[in-house]
Amino acid sequence: MQNSPSRTAQHVALFRALESVRRGPRLFTDPYAASSLGTGYRLAVALARRTGLTNVLERRIDTSWPAGPRASAVVRTRLIDDLVRDAFAHGARQLVLLGAGYDSRAFRLEAARNATVFEVDHPATQTVKRELVTAWNRTTTGRPREDIHFVPADLMHQDLGEVLRGAGLRDDPAVVVWEGVTNYLDAPSVHTTLTALASTTAPGSRIVFTYMDRRALDGTGDFAGVEAWADAVRSAGEPFTFGFLPDELPGYLAARGLALTLDLSARDAAARYLEPLGRREPAAPFYRIAQAEVK
Ligand SMILES: C[S@@+](CC[C@H](N)C(=O)[O-])C[C@H]1O[C@@H](n2cnc3c(N)ncnc32)[C@H](O)[C@@H]1O
Repeated sequence: MQNSPSRTAQHVALFRALESVRRGPRLFTDPYAASSLGTGYRLAVALARRTGLTNVLERRIDTSWPAGPRASAVVRTRLIDDLVRDAFAHGARQLVLLGAGYDSRAFRLEAARNATVFEVDHPATQTVKRELVTAWNRTTTGRPREDIHFVPADLMHQDLGEVLRGAGLRDDPAVVVWEGVTNYLDAPSVHTTLTALASTTAPGSRIVFTYMDRRALDGTGDFAGVEAWADAVRSAGEPFTFGFLPDELPGYLAARGLALTLDLSARDAAARYLEPLGRREPAAPFYRIAQAEVK
Protein backbone atom coordinates (compact mmCIF):
# COMPACT_ATOMS: atom_id res chain seq x y z
CA MET A 1 0.00 0.00 0.00
CA GLN A 2 0.65 3.58 0.81
CA ASN A 3 3.69 5.75 0.79
CA SER A 4 1.36 8.51 1.90
CA PRO A 5 -1.04 8.65 4.86
CA SER A 6 -4.05 6.34 4.49
CA ARG A 7 -6.99 8.02 2.76
CA THR A 8 -9.43 5.39 3.93
CA ALA A 9 -8.45 6.27 7.52
CA GLN A 10 -9.56 9.84 6.71
CA HIS A 11 -12.91 8.56 5.43
CA VAL A 12 -13.54 6.66 8.65
CA ALA A 13 -12.59 9.73 10.68
CA LEU A 14 -15.06 11.77 8.62
CA PHE A 15 -17.87 9.30 9.36
CA ARG A 16 -17.03 9.39 13.08
CA ALA A 17 -16.82 13.17 13.10
CA LEU A 18 -20.28 13.42 11.48
CA GLU A 19 -21.75 10.98 14.00
CA SER A 20 -20.24 13.10 16.75
CA VAL A 21 -21.98 16.33 15.67
CA ARG A 22 -25.44 14.79 15.22
CA ARG A 23 -28.16 16.49 17.15
CA GLY A 24 -30.11 13.84 19.03
CA PRO A 25 -28.99 10.38 20.08
CA ARG A 26 -25.56 9.29 18.84
CA LEU A 27 -23.78 5.99 18.86
CA PHE A 28 -20.70 7.64 20.37
CA THR A 29 -19.02 11.01 20.55
CA ASP A 30 -15.49 11.20 19.22
CA PRO A 31 -14.32 14.75 19.92
CA TYR A 32 -10.97 14.03 18.24
CA ALA A 33 -12.21 12.81 14.86
CA ALA A 34 -12.73 16.23 13.23
CA SER A 35 -9.18 17.33 14.04
CA SER A 36 -7.88 14.34 12.04
CA LEU A 37 -9.43 15.64 8.83
CA GLY A 38 -8.08 17.63 5.91
CA THR A 39 -9.51 21.08 5.30
CA GLY A 40 -12.43 20.14 3.00
CA TYR A 41 -13.82 17.42 5.24
CA ARG A 42 -13.26 19.56 8.32
CA LEU A 43 -15.28 22.40 6.80
CA ALA A 44 -18.09 19.99 5.88
CA VAL A 45 -18.26 18.76 9.48
CA ALA A 46 -18.20 22.31 10.86
CA LEU A 47 -21.03 23.26 8.52
CA ALA A 48 -23.03 20.18 9.51
CA ARG A 49 -22.54 21.02 13.18
CA ARG A 50 -23.56 24.67 12.74
CA THR A 51 -26.63 24.03 10.59
CA GLY A 52 -27.78 20.80 12.27
CA LEU A 53 -27.95 19.25 8.81
CA THR A 54 -25.68 16.31 9.53
CA ASN A 55 -28.31 13.84 8.39
CA VAL A 56 -28.57 15.57 4.99
CA LEU A 57 -24.84 15.13 4.42
CA GLU A 58 -24.99 11.56 5.69
CA ARG A 59 -27.87 10.76 3.33
CA ARG A 60 -25.85 12.17 0.45
CA ILE A 61 -22.95 9.86 1.34
CA ASP A 62 -25.30 6.91 1.78
CA THR A 63 -26.91 7.38 -1.62
CA SER A 64 -23.53 7.71 -3.35
CA TRP A 65 -22.31 4.43 -1.75
CA PRO A 66 -25.51 2.46 -1.14
CA ALA A 67 -23.76 -0.60 0.33
CA GLY A 68 -23.23 1.49 3.43
CA PRO A 69 -19.58 2.28 4.24
CA ARG A 70 -20.60 5.17 6.53
CA ALA A 71 -23.23 3.34 8.59
CA SER A 72 -21.01 0.23 8.65
CA ALA A 73 -18.14 2.31 10.03
CA VAL A 74 -20.14 3.97 12.80
CA VAL A 75 -21.86 0.80 13.98
CA ARG A 76 -18.58 -1.11 13.97
CA THR A 77 -16.98 1.69 16.00
CA ARG A 78 -19.75 1.51 18.60
CA LEU A 79 -19.67 -2.28 18.76
CA ILE A 80 -15.88 -2.28 19.12
CA ASP A 81 -16.08 0.40 21.83
CA ASP A 82 -18.39 -1.93 23.77
CA LEU A 83 -16.11 -4.93 23.19
CA VAL A 84 -13.07 -2.97 24.38
CA ARG A 85 -14.92 -1.85 27.53
CA ASP A 86 -15.94 -5.45 28.17
CA ALA A 87 -12.35 -6.67 27.72
CA PHE A 88 -11.13 -4.17 30.30
CA ALA A 89 -13.96 -5.17 32.65
CA HIS A 90 -12.63 -8.74 32.34
CA GLY A 91 -9.00 -8.05 33.15
CA ALA A 92 -7.32 -6.60 30.04
CA ARG A 93 -4.42 -4.33 30.98
CA GLN A 94 -3.03 -3.40 27.56
CA LEU A 95 -4.63 -1.95 24.43
CA VAL A 96 -3.09 -2.64 21.02
CA LEU A 97 -4.47 -0.62 18.11
CA LEU A 98 -3.34 -2.41 14.98
CA GLY A 99 -3.55 -0.23 11.87
CA ALA A 100 -4.60 2.49 14.29
CA GLY A 101 -5.32 5.26 11.78
CA TYR A 102 -7.05 8.12 13.61
CA ASP A 103 -8.54 5.89 16.32
CA SER A 104 -8.84 7.98 19.50
CA ARG A 105 -9.90 5.23 21.91
CA ALA A 106 -6.79 5.77 24.06
CA PHE A 107 -8.20 9.22 24.82
CA ARG A 108 -11.94 8.85 24.70
CA LEU A 109 -12.63 5.50 26.42
CA GLU A 110 -12.61 5.79 30.18
CA ALA A 111 -12.03 2.03 30.38
CA ALA A 112 -8.67 2.43 28.59
CA ARG A 113 -7.47 5.25 30.82
CA ASN A 114 -5.01 3.17 32.82
CA ALA A 115 -4.07 0.74 30.07
CA THR A 116 -0.69 0.60 28.41
CA VAL A 117 -1.39 1.55 24.80
CA PHE A 118 0.46 0.40 21.68
CA GLU A 119 -0.41 1.98 18.36
CA VAL A 120 0.90 -0.01 15.41
CA ASP A 121 0.49 1.47 11.96
CA HIS A 122 2.08 1.85 8.60
CA PRO A 123 4.82 4.50 9.04
CA ALA A 124 3.19 6.85 6.48
CA THR A 125 0.01 7.15 8.53
CA GLN A 126 1.66 6.99 11.90
CA THR A 127 3.80 10.06 11.26
CA VAL A 128 0.62 12.12 10.90
CA LYS A 129 -1.02 10.43 13.89
CA ARG A 130 1.91 11.25 16.17
CA GLU A 131 1.52 14.95 15.39
CA LEU A 132 -2.20 14.69 16.05
CA VAL A 133 -1.67 12.99 19.40
CA THR A 134 0.70 15.78 20.42
CA ALA A 135 -2.10 18.25 19.61
CA TRP A 136 -4.73 16.12 21.38
CA ASN A 137 -2.50 16.05 24.47
CA ARG A 138 -2.41 19.85 24.47
CA THR A 139 -6.16 20.26 24.06
CA THR A 140 -7.74 17.31 25.84
CA THR A 141 -10.00 18.03 28.79
CA GLY A 142 -9.22 14.50 30.00
CA ARG A 143 -5.91 12.99 31.01
CA PRO A 144 -3.11 13.57 28.48
CA ARG A 145 -1.65 10.37 27.02
CA GLU A 146 2.08 11.03 26.83
CA ASP A 147 2.65 7.31 27.36
CA ILE A 148 1.44 5.81 24.08
CA HIS A 149 3.94 3.43 22.48
CA PHE A 150 4.03 4.24 18.76
CA VAL A 151 5.18 1.27 16.75
CA PRO A 152 5.67 1.86 13.02
CA ALA A 153 5.27 -1.39 11.07
CA ASP A 154 4.20 -2.58 7.66
CA LEU A 155 2.14 -5.70 8.36
CA MET A 156 2.71 -6.92 4.81
CA HIS A 157 6.43 -7.18 5.47
CA GLN A 158 7.12 -7.30 9.21
CA ASP A 159 6.55 -9.87 11.93
CA LEU A 160 4.19 -8.34 14.44
CA GLY A 161 5.38 -10.61 17.26
CA GLU A 162 8.92 -9.25 17.15
CA VAL A 163 7.64 -5.73 16.74
CA LEU A 164 5.33 -5.88 19.76
CA ARG A 165 7.84 -7.62 22.01
CA GLY A 166 10.43 -5.03 21.03
CA ALA A 167 7.98 -2.27 21.92
CA GLY A 168 7.49 -3.71 25.41
CA LEU A 169 4.23 -5.68 25.24
CA ARG A 170 3.97 -7.52 28.57
CA ASP A 171 2.65 -10.95 29.41
CA ASP A 172 -0.61 -9.42 30.74
CA PRO A 173 -3.99 -9.79 29.04
CA ALA A 174 -4.43 -7.41 26.14
CA VAL A 175 -7.25 -6.32 23.90
CA VAL A 176 -6.16 -5.91 20.30
CA VAL A 177 -8.27 -3.80 17.93
CA TRP A 178 -7.67 -4.51 14.25
CA GLU A 179 -10.40 -2.38 12.77
CA GLY A 180 -10.81 -1.74 9.06
CA VAL A 181 -7.46 -3.28 8.09
CA THR A 182 -7.56 -6.99 7.11
CA ASN A 183 -9.34 -6.19 3.83
CA TYR A 184 -6.27 -4.19 2.69
CA LEU A 185 -3.76 -6.99 3.38
CA ASP A 186 -3.21 -10.43 1.86
CA ALA A 187 -3.68 -13.99 3.10
CA PRO A 188 -0.03 -14.56 4.19
CA SER A 189 0.15 -11.32 6.19
CA VAL A 190 -3.23 -11.93 7.87
CA HIS A 191 -2.03 -15.45 8.77
CA THR A 192 1.33 -14.17 10.07
CA THR A 193 -0.30 -11.41 12.10
CA LEU A 194 -2.91 -13.65 13.77
CA THR A 195 -0.31 -16.35 14.47
CA ALA A 196 1.98 -13.73 16.02
CA LEU A 197 -0.85 -12.34 18.16
CA ALA A 198 -1.77 -15.85 19.36
CA SER A 199 1.80 -16.50 20.50
CA THR A 200 2.74 -13.01 21.74
CA THR A 201 -0.30 -11.95 23.77
CA ALA A 202 -1.19 -13.61 27.08
CA PRO A 203 -3.88 -16.33 27.19
CA GLY A 204 -7.31 -14.75 27.63
CA SER A 205 -6.33 -11.77 25.47
CA ARG A 206 -8.98 -10.71 22.98
CA ILE A 207 -8.54 -9.79 19.35
CA VAL A 208 -11.32 -7.70 17.84
CA PHE A 209 -11.09 -7.43 14.08
CA THR A 210 -13.16 -6.61 11.04
CA TYR A 211 -13.18 -8.45 7.75
CA MET A 212 -14.95 -8.62 4.43
CA ASP A 213 -17.01 -11.64 3.48
CA ARG A 214 -14.87 -13.06 0.68
CA ARG A 215 -17.96 -13.65 -1.48
CA ALA A 216 -18.33 -9.86 -1.79
CA LEU A 217 -14.81 -9.66 -3.23
CA ASP A 218 -14.82 -12.60 -5.63
CA GLY A 219 -18.34 -12.00 -6.95
CA THR A 220 -19.78 -15.30 -5.68
CA GLY A 221 -22.07 -13.54 -3.18
CA ASP A 222 -25.29 -11.74 -3.97
CA PHE A 223 -24.47 -8.42 -2.32
CA ALA A 224 -25.91 -5.25 -3.82
CA GLY A 225 -23.79 -2.11 -4.06
CA VAL A 226 -20.41 -3.60 -3.20
CA GLU A 227 -18.85 -2.46 -6.51
CA ALA A 228 -19.27 1.26 -5.79
CA TRP A 229 -17.60 0.86 -2.40
CA ALA A 230 -14.78 -1.24 -3.91
CA ASP A 231 -14.27 1.43 -6.62
CA ALA A 232 -14.06 4.17 -3.98
CA VAL A 233 -11.31 2.46 -1.98
CA ARG A 234 -9.48 1.47 -5.18
CA SER A 235 -9.39 5.10 -6.27
CA ALA A 236 -8.13 6.01 -2.79
CA GLY A 237 -5.16 3.71 -3.64
CA GLU A 238 -6.21 1.08 -1.07
CA PRO A 239 -8.11 -1.65 -2.94
CA PHE A 240 -9.92 -4.49 -1.16
CA THR A 241 -7.60 -7.46 -1.36
CA PHE A 242 -8.62 -9.98 1.30
CA GLY A 243 -11.68 -11.59 2.86
CA PHE A 244 -12.70 -14.63 4.88
CA LEU A 245 -15.63 -16.98 4.34
CA PRO A 246 -17.63 -16.63 7.59
CA ASP A 247 -18.27 -20.40 7.76
CA GLU A 248 -14.54 -21.10 7.64
CA LEU A 249 -13.52 -18.54 10.27
CA PRO A 250 -13.96 -20.68 13.43
CA GLY A 251 -11.74 -23.47 12.03
CA TYR A 252 -9.19 -21.01 10.61
CA LEU A 253 -8.80 -19.35 14.01
CA ALA A 254 -8.77 -22.60 15.99
CA ALA A 255 -5.85 -23.81 13.85
CA ARG A 256 -3.94 -20.71 15.01
CA GLY A 257 -4.65 -21.02 18.75
CA LEU A 258 -7.65 -18.66 18.77
CA ALA A 259 -11.32 -19.22 19.62
CA LEU A 260 -13.98 -17.24 17.80
CA THR A 261 -16.32 -15.64 20.37
CA LEU A 262 -18.33 -13.24 18.18
CA ASP A 263 -18.99 -12.70 14.49
CA LEU A 264 -21.61 -10.17 13.38
CA SER A 265 -22.24 -8.35 10.15
CA ALA A 266 -22.39 -4.55 10.16
CA ARG A 267 -26.06 -5.00 9.25
CA ASP A 268 -26.59 -7.10 12.42
CA ALA A 269 -24.80 -4.39 14.41
CA ALA A 270 -27.07 -1.74 12.85
CA ALA A 271 -30.12 -3.73 14.00
CA ARG A 272 -28.66 -3.69 17.50
CA TYR A 273 -27.59 -0.05 17.68
CA LEU A 274 -29.30 2.07 15.01
CA GLU A 275 -32.79 0.64 14.76
CA PRO A 276 -33.66 1.22 18.45
CA LEU A 277 -32.87 4.92 17.75
CA GLY A 278 -35.30 4.87 14.83
CA ARG A 279 -32.39 5.18 12.39
CA ARG A 280 -32.76 3.15 9.21
CA GLU A 281 -29.38 3.52 7.54
CA PRO A 282 -27.67 1.15 5.10
CA ALA A 283 -25.03 -1.06 6.75
CA ALA A 284 -23.35 -3.84 4.82
CA PRO A 285 -24.25 -7.51 5.26
CA PHE A 286 -20.78 -8.44 3.92
CA TYR A 287 -18.71 -6.27 6.27
CA ARG A 288 -18.16 -8.14 9.53
CA ILE A 289 -16.90 -7.58 13.07
CA ALA A 290 -15.39 -10.57 14.89
CA GLN A 291 -13.75 -11.29 18.22
CA ALA A 292 -11.37 -14.11 19.07
CA GLU A 293 -9.84 -15.16 22.37
CA VAL A 294 -6.26 -16.33 22.77
CA LYS A 295 -6.27 -19.91 24.14
C1 LIG B 1 -9.47 2.18 7.00
S1 LIG B 1 -8.08 2.63 7.92
C2 LIG B 1 -8.64 2.15 9.53
C3 LIG B 1 -7.96 2.93 10.61
C4 LIG B 1 -8.46 2.67 12.02
N1 LIG B 1 -8.24 1.32 12.46
C5 LIG B 1 -9.91 3.05 12.13
O1 LIG B 1 -10.78 2.16 12.12
O2 LIG B 1 -10.16 4.25 12.21
C6 LIG B 1 -6.88 1.41 7.50
C7 LIG B 1 -5.63 1.45 8.35
O3 LIG B 1 -4.82 0.30 8.03
C8 LIG B 1 -3.48 0.69 7.97
N2 LIG B 1 -2.77 -0.23 7.09
C9 LIG B 1 -3.10 -0.60 5.83
N3 LIG B 1 -2.16 -1.43 5.33
C10 LIG B 1 -1.22 -1.58 6.29
C11 LIG B 1 0.00 -2.30 6.39
N4 LIG B 1 0.47 -3.01 5.36
N5 LIG B 1 0.72 -2.24 7.53
C12 LIG B 1 0.26 -1.51 8.58
N6 LIG B 1 -0.90 -0.80 8.56
C13 LIG B 1 -1.62 -0.83 7.43
C14 LIG B 1 -3.55 2.10 7.38
O4 LIG B 1 -2.35 2.83 7.61
C15 LIG B 1 -4.75 2.67 8.13
O5 LIG B 1 -4.40 3.25 9.35
